[in-house]
Amino acid sequence: MSQSHPRISKAVIPAAGLGTRFLPATKATPKEMLPVVDKPAIQYVVEEAVSAGLDDVLMVTGRNKRPLEDHFDRNYELESALGKKGDAARLAKVQESSDLATMHYVRQGDPKGLGHAVLCAAPHVGDEPFAVLLGDDLIDPRDPLLQRMIEVQQEHGGSVIALMEVAPEQIHLYGSAAVEATADADVVKVSGLVEKPTAEEAPSHYAVIGRYVLDPAVFGILRKTEPGRGGEIQLTDALQQLAADETVGGPVHGVVFKGRRYDTGDRGDYLRAIVRLACEREDLGPDFRAWLRRYVTEEMQQR
Ligand code: UTP
Repeated sequence: MSQSHPRISKAVIPAAGLGTRFLPATKATPKEMLPVVDKPAIQYVVEEAVSAGLDDVLMVTGRNKRPLEDHFDRNYELESALGKKGDAARLAKVQESSDLATMHYVRQGDPKGLGHAVLCAAPHVGDEPFAVLLGDDLIDPRDPLLQRMIEVQQEHGGSVIALMEVAPEQIHLYGSAAVEATADADVVKVSGLVEKPTAEEAPSHYAVIGRYVLDPAVFGILRKTEPGRGGEIQLTDALQQLAADETVGGPVHGVVFKGRRYDTGDRGDYLRAIVRLACEREDLGPDFRAWLRRYVTEEMQQR
């Protein structure tokens, strides 16, 4: 690994979106707080940052930010009640999220898009490369992605994005990357990006997913980026500019991810994440799997 690139220590988690796909659940609660089995989605994301060595976490929050801040703070009332009962296991669960990382918060007044949310992190991040983890994108902890992206950034400098191969009829839901192969099978060089293209316009089947390691030059570009698709300041538009001109912030590489990932802001994916993670849990899994098997068998018989 090259020593010439500054070490990455900060993670930025945008969690200020409106979450309209999940209404009415997200009317008064951020979608990032919806539980995946018994833990809010956002806690998995913070745990992922910490296990990649990033324990300085800045969360970009919007309206309804209280539950997010409270979840990563101490809850003395609950702790004292559980302590008095001698319920050490549940007490540990309460304390787990407040002991995880050094948390910081910044408010995105208006949800003007992901690019704008990332720009809100500029004063905290300063002039260092940093990671961005989308608060509603869940990467299975057994399929580490961020560590590999940090390794690639330390080797090549510049920025690194996460890519996943998707079916042509799915690409309009994502940003799509034009790529060239490199000597590493899981790493590509990114030469261009298009936000939510039609299957015909898409430069490849590689879709951009919610993990980034970015050069701070992205802030200068975002400051000048006009609202794009949907009237929002798009991170993809700024990344396209980085990819088009290496002299600005170094090259853009992509790590091709083949592991398990769930978009917990999408209702179908959210349900799949819960079923899969519940089946795999040692405490809940055996009973839940047995019930699921019976349920599926009955369903099949009725068809
Ligand atoms: P999404 O594209 O999923 O948008 O944001 P959204 O508004 O949250 O959800 P829908 O489409 O209305 O259901 C991707 C990530 O970027 C954050 C979101 O919180 C989510 O983690 N985001 C998005 C912001 O922080 N600010 C924004 O202005 C937009």
